[in-house]
Amino acid sequence: MQDYYKKFRLTNKVAVITGASEGIGRDIAIGLAEAGAEIIICGRRQKKLLEVKEIAEKNGCKVEMCVIDIQKVSDIQKLKEFIEAKTGKVDILINNAGYAVTKPAWDVSENDWDTMVDTGFKGLFFCCQAVGSIMRRRGYGKIINLSSTFSKSIVPGRSVYGGIKAGINHLTEALAMEWAPHGIRVNALAPTAVNTPSRQATLQGPMLEKILSRIPMGRLATPEDLIGAVIYLSSEASDFVTGQTLFVDGGWVAAS
Ligand SMILES: NC(=O)c1ccc[n+]([C@@H]2O[C@H](COP(=O)([O-])OP(=O)(O)OC[C@H]3O[C@@H](n4cnc5c(N)ncnc54)[C@H](OP(=O)(O)O)[C@@H]3O)[C@@H](O)[C@H]2O)c1
Repeated sequence: MQDYYKKFRLTNKVAVITGASEGIGRDIAIGLAEAGAEIIICGRRQKKLLEVKEIAEKNGCKVEMCVIDIQKVSDIQKLKEFIEAKTGKVDILINNAGYAVTKPAWDVSENDWDTMVDTGFKGLFFCCQAVGSIMRRRGYGKIINLSSTFSKSIVPGRSVYGGIKAGINHLTEALAMEWAPHGIRVNALAPTAVNTPSRQATLQGPMLEKILSRIPMGRLATPEDLIGAVIYLSSEASDFVTGQTLFVDGGWVAAS
């Protein structure tokens, strides 16, 4: 009998998670570590990263920390050098770091635009390129880009953010096609709203009611909802899956 479940294990895999200091990225990092991966966690806030490191290490996991600002390509190069020095290989990249501004399109400033695009799109692309180049040497890798339901549906106040996430779905397909010959699988994960610290101010009152009314399953997503999907896309169980965007959204997009 085949041990299919074994294919989901991440033992001996190295996973890099951007934006792992808080929110979804923090929980994904801890989830991947519990599934057996050695994790390299990234973000700007060292203190927050240390908290995540301590939690994962208490569970017996191996953790490295790399403090970077993903808006700077020079910092992404430092991440590449860090991986090469610490582990020499990488199997999984979770491109989670992002930044959201909720504002009518009329009011979006140049600074809002630059911060959203440089973090969520430029930073994501150059992480794919830098970390992907390490994967290419071994002919194997899994890249998972954080997209959103807003990549496929419209919510007022999220024009630029939704545009970036739609771009991520497209970029995911394009890189999947270019890098399949190198054994690098590129997929996207698109959650509906998750009540992370950065979303608490917007996920309230009428806005929350509006969002809930569009989710057939009647609740927001939780980080725990995402971890199983991330483990699947990170593991050998999904080796023939590439260029896909997996919606974990309680049915939002299907109902749109
Ligand atoms: N929450 C939701 O409702 C939701 C729904 C769908 C998709 N998503 C996507 O899921 C991802 C995580 O969302 P979240 O709500 O967990 O976000 P969050 O709570 O705001 O956390 C964002 C993470 O990104 C890091 N980050 C931000 N700017 C950075 C920079 N310049 N350099 C390095 N790291 C940076 C932050 O760490 P530092 O501040 O320490 O740098 C933090 O760890 C994002 O891509 C988001 O678009 C979220």
